[in-house]
Amino acid sequence: MAKVYKAYAPASAANLSVGFDLLGMALAPIDGSSLGDTVSASLAQNQEIEIIVEGKYKDKLPSDIKKNILYDAYLLFKQELAKRNLSYKPTKLVLDKALPVCSGLGSSAASVVAAVMALNAYHDKPLNSHEELMLMGKLEGKISGAIHYDNVAPCYFGGLQLVVDEGDTISCNLNFFDNLYIVSSFPGIKVSTSQARSILPAQYTRSDAIAYARRLAMFVHACHTQNEALATQCFVDVIAEPYRAKLIPNFDRVKEHGVGLNAVATGISGSGSSIFSIYRDLDSAKAMKEYLERNFIANADGFVNICKVDKLGARVSEQEE
Ligand code: HSE
Repeated sequence: MAKVYKAYAPASAANLSVGFDLLGMALAPIDGSSLGDTVSASLAQNQEIEIIVEGKYKDKLPSDIKKNILYDAYLLFKQELAKRNLSYKPTKLVLDKALPVCSGLGSSAASVVAAVMALNAYHDKPLNSHEELMLMGKLEGKISGAIHYDNVAPCYFGGLQLVVDEGDTISCNLNFFDNLYIVSSFPGIKVSTSQARSILPAQYTRSDAIAYARRLAMFVHACHTQNEALATQCFVDVIAEPYRAKLIPNFDRVKEHGVGLNAVATGISGSGSSIFSIYRDLDSAKAMKEYLERNFIANADGFVNICKVDKLGARVSEQEE
């Protein structure tokens, strides 16, 4: 029987207000449902590469398979094999596109992470985890215009990741606070990361630079010392939110509603249009979920999940076809 390698890669929230381009958190809905993309790799019968796209958001992707990021993943993976004098096996990739594109949920990162992991597992793991991650970063950079690991790293490793990208270390795990609930909502409106980056200032004032560094340093210290009170004071965004809030209809009202529910923080997830809102108690998280369902979701593509941190990250399972 032929083997199928199935890689699941979770959604993630990058930036988290306090760590623009440097923080990202993998998300797992508390109701046990999945919130991520899946890619299966198995033997292709007649072609070198076969790519099939399924799932709720499959129609949001280009129909030309050569424009799908999985095709780029195949090309780059094959190059990596060639560098190692290893042969490529004809591969059928099936993408279950469960995350909406341009959503701020790390949708492209999830597809890239799942594709590289499935390809690598199917070829008996010629790439080690650092090499896998470098390849994922390169692919993600092709889509968003610049290599940043703030979705790829949490999606791959799970948890809350601080991107360091120095020497051989791409990211470090931070301990978040297990008691906190993260309400994550996609309103159904697309915001492209490159567009959301283009509206940011090219330069920031010295006081904003210092405020950003101070809060991020304080947040990392608070995570390491598990000082929740200190951590919750850090969720202030001077880099992106002041410029991007206007891209997300009703963002200011949602944030204000969060204040009324004693939210620890409410901010933009990645480059939007999703938002996150963090709570100490489940009742408040549920109240925010209901509010978002009534007042933030703009169409049938939108949704809300109450999440905790996905600590597992991307995972591959092996099945018989
Ligand atoms: N950090 C990126 C941005 C998005 O906010 O532009 C996620 O990679």
